[in-house]
Amino acid sequence: MKVTTFGVVGSGQMGNGIAQVAASSGLNVVMSDIKEEFAARGLAAIENNLARSVAKGKISADEKDEILGRIKITTNLEDMAAVDYVVEAAVEREDLKFNIFRELDKICPAHVILGTNTSSIPIGRIAAQTSRPEKVIGMHFMNPVPVMKLVEVIKGIATSEQTFDITWELCEKFGKTPAEANDFPGFIANRILMPMINEAIFCLYQSVGKAEDIDTVMKLGMNHPMGPLALADLIGLDTCLAIMETLYDGFKDSKYRPCPLLRKYVEAGWLGRKSGRGFYTY
Ligand code: CAA
Repeated sequence: MKVTTFGVVGSGQMGNGIAQVAASSGLNVVMSDIKEEFAARGLAAIENNLARSVAKGKISADEKDEILGRIKITTNLEDMAAVDYVVEAAVEREDLKFNIFRELDKICPAHVILGTNTSSIPIGRIAAQTSRPEKVIGMHFMNPVPVMKLVEVIKGIATSEQTFDITWELCEKFGKTPAEANDFPGFIANRILMPMINEAIFCLYQSVGKAEDIDTVMKLGMNHPMGPLALADLIGLDTCLAIMETLYDGFKDSKYRPCPLLRKYVEAGWLGRKSGRGFYTY
């Protein structure tokens, strides 16, 4: 199966990043969102990123225009009827993703693979919403998508080898390095990353250190490019909480309990960079 048109559901920071790498690899892209202004904002983010690449001499102005010319935005999910492969990158909420997959299953022709960028919801549970579980797979990009090399490719219990192979090849076409994971809560990336971030939040909660000091320890002591609290702000504290909840629900192990301070911040609407306030102010 040849993929020439790639669909992305969701135009937020993950969705627009995925659309950018897909269009940059030469594919036509359809990027959808529920509101015109969200889709337009996603496209503007891509435009900004590409403009920075032009300014740095990484791509030419013509290449930028060609890449942008390959991206169509829409608020009509029915437009996914015209794509060869879809990846869903909506908010990390199970009910919402389930609805999208039920809809996509009706809209997309039977041969189309339905990928999900979920960071922790079981692929099998998402696949069960469709009549094509063998064509449902996790395609988990890292933030910021244009920069990070990894894509975690997650096989659900019913995912076929063909679906896996096509997804793997697409990741390589996008210039990424795929890594294979099986379908357990949090997969590999967030099973390891999120408890570390959660523990950093406990350190703040219990006044072991101030946010800046916790981050400095991990940056300079462990050579991490960002401290865990700054990274949590980048990922979004609502997403971090949702992932911790998934780990806790999935394993029923107290080591995955979300830190109460994380919940408090999310309840206050302090979601990190995207809301202007998280562990830091932006
Ligand atoms: N979009 C596009 N490009 C970006 C970007 C963004 N949002 N942010 C930074 N960049 C680019 C910059 O333009 C710059 O490009 P050049 O090399 O061409 O100049 C490059 O990235 C480096 O940026 P900076 O020099 O400004 O800053 P930096 O060296 O500190 O790097 C960073 C920034 C890449 C974000 C780095 O701090 C980093 O790697 N942080 C950790 C990120 C990480 O761990 N991500 C995974 C999160 S977990 C996840 O996503 C999964 C999940 O399910 C939660």
